[in-house]
Amino acid sequence: MEDVTDTVFRRIVGLCGRPDLFFTEFIHTDVVLAKRRGRPGVTPRLVYSPQELPLVAQIWGNDPSAYARAAKRLASMGFSGVDINMGCPVRKIRKKGACAGLIRRPALAAELIAAAKEGGLPVSVKTRTGYDRHDTERWVAHLLLQGIDALTVHGRYAEQESDEPANWNEIGRAAAIARELGVETAVVGNGDVTSRAEIAERCRAYGLDGVMVGRGVFVDPYLFAAGERAGTFPRADAAQKLDLLQAHLRLYRDVWGATRNYEILKKFYKIYLTGFPAAESLRARLNATHDYEAAEAVIADFLRGIGECDVAAGGASRAETKVLR
Ligand SMILES: Cc1cc2nc3c(=O)[nH]c(=O)nc-3n(C[C@H](O)[C@H](O)[C@H](O)COP(=O)(O)O)c2cc1C
Repeated sequence: MEDVTDTVFRRIVGLCGRPDLFFTEFIHTDVVLAKRRGRPGVTPRLVYSPQELPLVAQIWGNDPSAYARAAKRLASMGFSGVDINMGCPVRKIRKKGACAGLIRRPALAAELIAAAKEGGLPVSVKTRTGYDRHDTERWVAHLLLQGIDALTVHGRYAEQESDEPANWNEIGRAAAIARELGVETAVVGNGDVTSRAEIAERCRAYGLDGVMVGRGVFVDPYLFAAGERAGTFPRADAAQKLDLLQAHLRLYRDVWGATRNYEILKKFYKIYLTGFPAAESLRARLNATHDYEAAEAVIADFLRGIGECDVAAGGASRAETKVLR
């Protein structure tokens, strides 16, 4: 997810409970290929650490020759696969015939896939069920006939953007088409899934090979965790949530330092600062900070307050509440 699933957030989610596969934010092929001082540069969106592997880089754009070169570069950088964004519904982008706009340009879509394969990595596509209506039969069959390794189908058509609930019957239809065509492509569903149990249930009910989860991790970063931790985060106490926030804040500072504005980090605060007494006032205090040190001081002050309450209440053990260190 753009401006969300950078290397830092992927690592935080990975620490909580790994998904089988991570994806990068979408990256234009020109950005993948951009040079700095005459040498290949690495855009922040392509920064990753080994613990995020397997990691698929998602690209977009409309130039087949750029796809071939970008895919080769991604292979040389150690990515596990290349995913082509044919689903982003942003009007400005799709009107130019890119991303979801490719649903109306099937011949170009096929060329882009063929070009991406020149990198030698597995190639997947993420798309929607159609442009101005569910058009799954035509569009999904066309993509499946291009010999891709995986296809992720988001259960809305492009003009629906994010308005209606995702249509899982259409996603199930995509899986059925793959079976009818006898292709090897893994079919993955996407849209509105918020728990690990739901992932398994959707795979069973709709005959899918997997489920891609986006916003679910905003509610529960432990969404992919197996066993007793799964689904517990929304009910976790303040100390647990702040432990994870501190881990995120410190990793963000260590990885990005002064190269990225501290203010961007604030958008993550609501993941952690919800569902416990005083969460809202703590969020307001943190939103008023302008650097890491001030944020750390506010959190430490809040935790001291909890500690004092524990002592007053007879000493509940903080050690039991640790999530991550
Ligand atoms: C903030 C944000 C950024 C997103 N960026 C991307 C992106 O870069 N590439 C992509 O394929 N989808 C992107 N999406 C769409 C999600 O991958 C996903 O298809 C959508 O949110 C529906 O799935 P969900 O209900 O599991 O979130 C983004 C969604 C959000 C909310």
